[in-house]
Order: sequence, then C-alpha cells, then structure tokens
Amino acid sequence: MSDAAKRVLLVDDDRFVRECIGAILEHIGYQVRTASSVDEALKEAPVWSPELVILDVDLGAGGDGITCCRRMREMEGFARTPIVMMTGLASRELVIQAAQAGANGYVLKTTLNIADFTDRLNRILQGPAPTPDSAPDAPPVPAVPAGQDPAPAGPPPDQEGERRIAKIHEPRALPFLATELGKLALSSGATTEDMVNVIKRDPAICAVVLRTVNSSFYRARGKTLSLERAVVGLGFGGLRTLAGSLEKFEDLLDSPESAGFALGYWQHSLACAILARRFAAGGGAEEAETAFLVGLLHDLGRPLLREAFPEFYGEVLRDAAAGVPLREAEQRRLGTDHLEAVCRTLTAWKIPPELVQAIGAHHDSWDQLRRRNLECFRPAAAVAVAERVLTGLAAGWPDDDRIEEVPDDLAALLELRQPELERMLADVYNDLDDFCAVFYLHMREDQALPPLTAQAPPESPSRKAFWVRAAEPRVDTVALALRQSDFAVRSGTTPEQAAEPRPDLVLASAEFVKDVPERLESLRRILHSLGEPAPRALFLAPESALSGLVPPPGIALVNRPLRVTPLLAALA
Ligand SMILES: [Fe+2]
Ligand SMILES: [Fe+2]
Repeated sequence: MSDAAKRVLLVDDDRFVRECIGAILEHIGYQVRTASSVDEALKEAPVWSPELVILDVDLGAGGDGITCCRRMREMEGFARTPIVMMTGLASRELVIQAAQAGANGYVLKTTLNIADFTDRLNRILQGPAPTPDSAPDAPPVPAVPAGQDPAPAGPPPDQEGERRIAKIHEPRALPFLATELGKLALSSGATTEDMVNVIKRDPAICAVVLRTVNSSFYRARGKTLSLERAVVGLGFGGLRTLAGSLEKFEDLLDSPESAGFALGYWQHSLACAILARRFAAGGGAEEAETAFLVGLLHDLGRPLLREAFPEFYGEVLRDAAAGVPLREAEQRRLGTDHLEAVCRTLTAWKIPPELVQAIGAHHDSWDQLRRRNLECFRPAAAVAVAERVLTGLAAGWPDDDRIEEVPDDLAALLELRQPELERMLADVYNDLDDFCAVFYLHMREDQALPPLTAQAPPESPSRKAFWVRAAEPRVDTVALALRQSDFAVRSGTTPEQAAEPRPDLVLASAEFVKDVPERLESLRRILHSLGEPAPRALFLAPESALSGLVPPPGIALVNRPLRVTPLLAALA
C-alpha cells in the first residue's frame, strides 16, 4: 500500500458487506478501517481521520447512518470530509434525508460492481469540496519583492491557471447574510419566502444553494432554474447545513480592500439581477426568475478568480481602474478571465447548462448573442442589456466603463422604453438603498467603507441637454449617463426644437464614418442658431473618424463607444 493511499472509514453492520466492500476499496487503492455501529464510527473517526467515509444507511441495532452522518458533520474537522451513504434500496425521501444530514452522495449495494463503484466514488469525490487536509498544497508562487509589479513575469503558466480554477469551490458570502440565513433556518416561524429573500440578496449564497440543489441527490427532481424551486427542494434542513458552511467567511469585511471589492461586486450583481428580472417579465414568471438568477450569478467569476489568484488580482483591479476592460486585464495578468472561471465552476457544480450558457453570454456582442442558440434567450438578453444599462450608470462595479448603446430589436423583445426603464431604475435604487441600510448596521465603527456607487440621479435635473437626432432609440444608455450628471435630455433636429428651453449642452453623434460631415454640420447649425453665449457641445464618433479631424470651434470630440469617466470629465 502506498503512502499516498487515501484513508477511508467504512461503516456497515454486516460483516460480509464490510469484507467485500473493504476488499474492493483496497483493490482500488484505499486504506480501509471499518466500524459496525454509529458509536464505533464516531469513536474511530477522529482517530483515523479518514478522507472519505462510506456509511450504511441502515445499521440495524447499531443505529442509523443518517444520524451518524449528521453527528459526524458536527465533529471538528469533518465539516467537509466527503461522506457517501450506502443503501440497499434508494428512495427519494432517503436520498433527501441523507443530503439534509450533509452527505455528499450515495451508492447502491444492489447494483455494485468494481468499475461502477470506482466511477461513482470518483465522481462524488470530484463534485464536493475536498477535505482541507487532503487538498494538495498549492505550489509556491514566486515571491514578488515589495513594490515590484508582478506583471512583467507574465501571467501564471496555463496549467497553473487551470489548476487554480479547478480548486475553486465556493465564493464568499456577505457574512451577515450568511448568519441571517442560519438564524432563519433555525427559527420555527421562518417561511420559504423569508429564506428566498435572504438567498436572493447574495450571489455567493445563491450559488451554493443552486449547486447543492443540482447535485446528484436532487437532480432526479428536475432541473432547478428558479430560487423558489431550489429552496423548496432543499428544505430547511439542507439550508441549515449550507448556512453553517457559509458562516466561516466573517473576515470578508476586515480589510478595506476586500470590503470595497465585496461591496462593488455585490451591488452590481444585485442591481443586474433586479433589472434583468424586470426586463424578462414579458416572458412570464419562470423566465423572469431565471433572468434574476443569471443576473445574480453572471459575474461570480470575479470573486472566484480573486480567491484563486489573491497575489495577482489586485493588479487586475488596478489595470481595470486605469481603463483596461476587466476581461482583458484578467487575461493579461492571469491567463484566464472571469467568464471562463464562472462557466467552468458552475459546470463542475452541475448547474443546468441552460443557466451556464446564459451566464456565459453576458459579454457577447449583440450579434454574437443573436447568433447563439440559447435555450434561455430572453433571460440572457435581459442580463446583457441590464449589464449595458448599469455600465452607463457606473452602478456597482461593472466590467468596464464603455457605454454601449442597446439595439432597438432587443429593447423591443424585452418590451423596454426609456420612461419605463427609468421607473425600473428608480425601483432598483430603492431596493439597493433599503438593503444598504441593513449593510451599514453591520459595519463596525472603525470600518471606512467606500461609498455605494449606485446613486439615484437627481429627481429634477438642473441642467438641460439637447441631442441633435431625428429619432430616439427605445433605450438610451447615453441619456442615462447624462441623467446621472444632472442633465435632462431632449432630442430633435431643428433650431426651433433646440431653442426652448435653452440647453446647457448640445450633443450629436455619428455611428459610421460616412455620416460624420453631415452630423457635424447639423450640430454646428444648431449651435449657431442658439447664439452667444454658446452652450457646450460634444460630438461623438468612432475613433477612426475622429483622428485627424479638426473640430469647429467650441465643439469637443469624444470617441465612441463612449466611456463613463471621460464623459463625466468632459461635463464637469
Ligand atoms: Fe462580466
Ligand atoms: Fe457585470
């Protein structure tokens, strides 16, 4: 027997079964110790420190395996040890009870053969988190002298990136939400709705619930594409176990850097989820809930990568703050990005592929999105549009600050028009506001947190903008950004339309190079008609059209796609 052989504790009241299965386990490379009752198992476990426990469900006079599993989970060092239940006959109730007691999987004695048994154990062992002591230590990362930029050394080698992503298990939840969930799970008066309300507020908790509910225990009950169904499927016992496993992340808010990351990420995910649910509502309640889930989880790859590459992720964030789109910065520093991390992790967690595909599409160009054959097209489109809208508002921590316009066909599919969109945004701000009040209640006095970035625009803007254009798009992300800067926006093409009320800012834009001369001339004409003192004027056009162009006096040129930071700077 090699030193590397894993220790397994096999618990069965039947000696014949212990001998047979013990022999199979040794044959496939395990070191085996056995126990025949609950008492014996609980005595043996801390002594043997097994890396895998196989527990018979019915131990006869020796007790019952499900109780044994529950008690073992409460023992120190056994919170994450894989526990596999073994039974002669699987019933759904039994499987659910086992999951609620904290088991990771089950095997059927009746259909046992070596190949299937090995395969089943391997799959169970790959699914859940490994024992902390059994997880191989990460190879040392080369030390970077203080103050030296690690980037010149290049991203970690490919296999290192792969290995670290494969090791990702759970993102961190906001600690007080995890505690809240734990309290609810223990209270006798809590309802499913109370539970869903807590879970809905945190992408990390939501991901762990989904992961559990889509595990082998529950998969037979059908795919879970909504949180309500997930919570009902899991039951309060299962949620109690989950809450217990989430509570250990209380250090999340300890450093301002990690608190800032958590806040920005959390705000952006929650705002995206709330908006996407509203956008997808035309497709019915089910699609709306799926859109919510996709929105809540879409950027989960960011905390996952941050956990996997703690020594490099700070650099990624600094690049992003300097204007490099986040995915590009991640690829440059880490050799992978948050899209790849979330899709691979959710796939390994057995989250339904429809959800993973929709999440994987959130950075698609509009054409890519239309071309993909997505089963959850409306939820995916809802999230992609919500992402663009939030970027225009600099809400939370979007992936980059390009304000992308939303095509009319997708806005029509989601039944969106600017006035309704603005009303929906007001709801999002209210929801975030309510929640942030709770958030601040949990802060220590000495904790200085970055301000929340999702701010409602002023109710009645004091400045006026006039956009020189014939038709308004259904959704206008640039106008949203202007609203944030205290501008009310009107459109038109004639000097009469521009004159009253007199604008403080006049804008025009050209999507294509060929349109530049004519659009620029319209802008110049309107400005001329407004007389002195001339209002400020911006002309938006693709970079290729702007290089070498000398603008008429008083007109500032701005690149399309527009970026939030330069826009705000131009308007300051
Ligand atoms: Fe993203
Ligand atoms: Fe995002």
